[in-house]
Amino acid sequence: MKHLLSLEKLPRADFETILSAAAGFKRERGRPQPQPLAGQTWALVFSKSSTRTRVSFEVGIRELGGESLFLSANDIQLGRGEPIQDTARVLGRMLHGAVIRTFAQSDVDTFAEFSGIPTINALTDAEHPCQVLADIFTFEETHGPIAGRVVTFIGDGACNMPASWIFAAAKLGFELRIAAPKPFQPSPELVRRAGGAIVVTEDLQAAATGADLLYTDVWVSMGKEAEEAERIRVLGGYQINQALVKRARPGAAVMHCLPAYRGKEIDAETFEAHAATIFTQAENRLHVQKAILNWAVS
Ligand code: CP
Ligand code: NVA
Repeated sequence: MKHLLSLEKLPRADFETILSAAAGFKRERGRPQPQPLAGQTWALVFSKSSTRTRVSFEVGIRELGGESLFLSANDIQLGRGEPIQDTARVLGRMLHGAVIRTFAQSDVDTFAEFSGIPTINALTDAEHPCQVLADIFTFEETHGPIAGRVVTFIGDGACNMPASWIFAAAKLGFELRIAAPKPFQPSPELVRRAGGAIVVTEDLQAAATGADLLYTDVWVSMGKEAEEAERIRVLGGYQINQALVKRARPGAAVMHCLPAYRGKEIDAETFEAHAATIFTQAENRLHVQKAILNWAVS
């Protein structure tokens, strides 16, 4: 039994196990599949909205022989203040695994500790490990091994997506450049803790130069809606557009975890030019998460 709580805690060998199993799940989809979740019921406990993560986990659990129960945090007693420790101990006695999307990373960690069932982080304020595993899988499908490559993240460098990229860079040996205005740069403590080849800069032109992958995410993450106007003002300009793509290596990938806000973190023309990659990223959530579920119960 294993948990996927963060990429910081995921050993390098497990990255490789998950990524190589995902290729098999993608190739074999539609054929008779292993059923490692046969007889199991997993809960999806979500405190934030979701399209991709929810659907890919529900479909993935079903395709691996299990059943899923979607629990919006507001509809269970958790939303009325029942402690996470108690919720975890109740769910742990009835269910076989849990996929949790919430605000505080400590809630996912506590759930794993108290429930005694495999627990997967489906996004917290601190990390989005399933997304970055799917992104790396997507990059490697078309561009080969990510080790030794240059990945440039443009935009809100202080949210969950860049944090998971930071930990992945240190584990998998690629250079990560984060271009963000000062108030939206990752904490130096986090960058130091991760180790690896990480460059944090305000200079998005320099950061994009020679990159193998340009990546962005929303300027206003879930839970930050009250800061929307200020974020749009400060992050304005930290956009992936055609001019920036020209600075990257020819044939560089452009990726977005979605949902996308055209005209903000990416312009419409660049989004559509790279839609095939971006929607393959979304599809690959399914294949990669089946590999994560299979790994978690093995
Ligand atoms: N990228 C992602 O996690 O999408 P959802 O918020 O729709 O799940
Ligand atoms: N940083 C974004 C990611 C969405 C998938 C958020 O937390 O809202």
